[in-house]
Amino acid sequence: EDIGVDADDLDLGGHAHFMLKEIHEQPAAAAAVIAGRIDERFGTTRLGGLNLTPRELRAFKRVKILGCGSAYYVGQMGAQMIEDLARIPADAEAASEFRYRNPIIEADTLYIAVSQSGETADTAFAVQEVQRKGGYVLGVVNVVGSTIARAVDGGVYIHAGPEVAVASTKALTNMGIAFAMLAVQLGRVRDLSVADGKRILAGLQAIPGQIAQVLADAEPAKAIAAELIKGDSAFYIGRTRGYPVAREGAQKLKEISYIHAEAYQASELKHGPLALIDEQMPTVAIIPDDELADRNLAAGEQVLARKGPLVVIAHPGVDVSALKVPTIRVPKNEPELDPILLTIPTQVIAYYAALALGLDVDKPRNLAKSVTVE
Ligand code: G6P
Repeated sequence: EDIGVDADDLDLGGHAHFMLKEIHEQPAAAAAVIAGRIDERFGTTRLGGLNLTPRELRAFKRVKILGCGSAYYVGQMGAQMIEDLARIPADAEAASEFRYRNPIIEADTLYIAVSQSGETADTAFAVQEVQRKGGYVLGVVNVVGSTIARAVDGGVYIHAGPEVAVASTKALTNMGIAFAMLAVQLGRVRDLSVADGKRILAGLQAIPGQIAQVLADAEPAKAIAAELIKGDSAFYIGRTRGYPVAREGAQKLKEISYIHAEAYQASELKHGPLALIDEQMPTVAIIPDDELADRNLAAGEQVLARKGPLVVIAHPGVDVSALKVPTIRVPKNEPELDPILLTIPTQVIAYYAALALGLDVDKPRNLAKSVTVE
């Protein structure tokens, strides 16, 4: 299968797997997606390929993000960023569902197709469905000149470089950053202040260094992976901004370790899934340092009270001492950007789980890097 990269790129650079190589390329990749796109003076971003005037950008009343798999989950993160920063109603939907349900297309909705490969058939068809009904579609795409990149009306290249491992890592991180930059630009033609724009820009510029820090401090990921592979099922829980992180974390574990993993809103735990918690059912809790940290810690206590193994991914400001469980710390950024960094440890956990199980990390069974068939 043509994975669209040159032989030169098929070099592990001293890493055991492409996935690990790509995980470690993230600081540099993140710097590349930001480079040249920041307007310090006006506290905004300059995404050159949107093909929209400020007036046109202002006229959109809603945003609908379409993607498949991990791209869909990062789209969910992006929708929250856009709601937070631009205060436009935004949501993400699986492109694979959207295309089959005769969707209502509105002229004042901005559609965004997100895809690493730019070749995912379901996403490409969703783009055509929108355009056929007169909607405007932006692409958030990695592969330059790909089918989706050529089809869209405008877009943002994420400049992650070639991604070989089936499980997406650096492309996903760069998609998250691209959505944040788009959210700032949409916000700054509306009510986002210069000061808030600058606050987010400073947060974005801190991300490459912070990713390096997460990777340097990721040692607990090995012990956490060892915990997860004891069972054949796991929960990932989070709330609001932490929920897409949980979904993506569960997806990664499923894709490469073949352990069943399910993401749940921590708030919904008591409305059903708590029935499944016992010694055999580990839970990974995403706990950002935000107004819901106490609620998330309480959910962790509930898991422990039912003898469920618990591991935590949290900001340094969250006091997890009472839980006494393996914890990975992730540096705090601006709240709107936090999901980007919180996702990084879930990649490392999945990698070590698959490695410990002796599985083919880069080419998991039954999956393809890009699904170009229907
Ligand atoms: C496949 C892969 C997923 C990926 C999805 C979207 O299903 O197995 O890992 O997230 O395609 O790929 P894309 O290239 O559109 O981002």
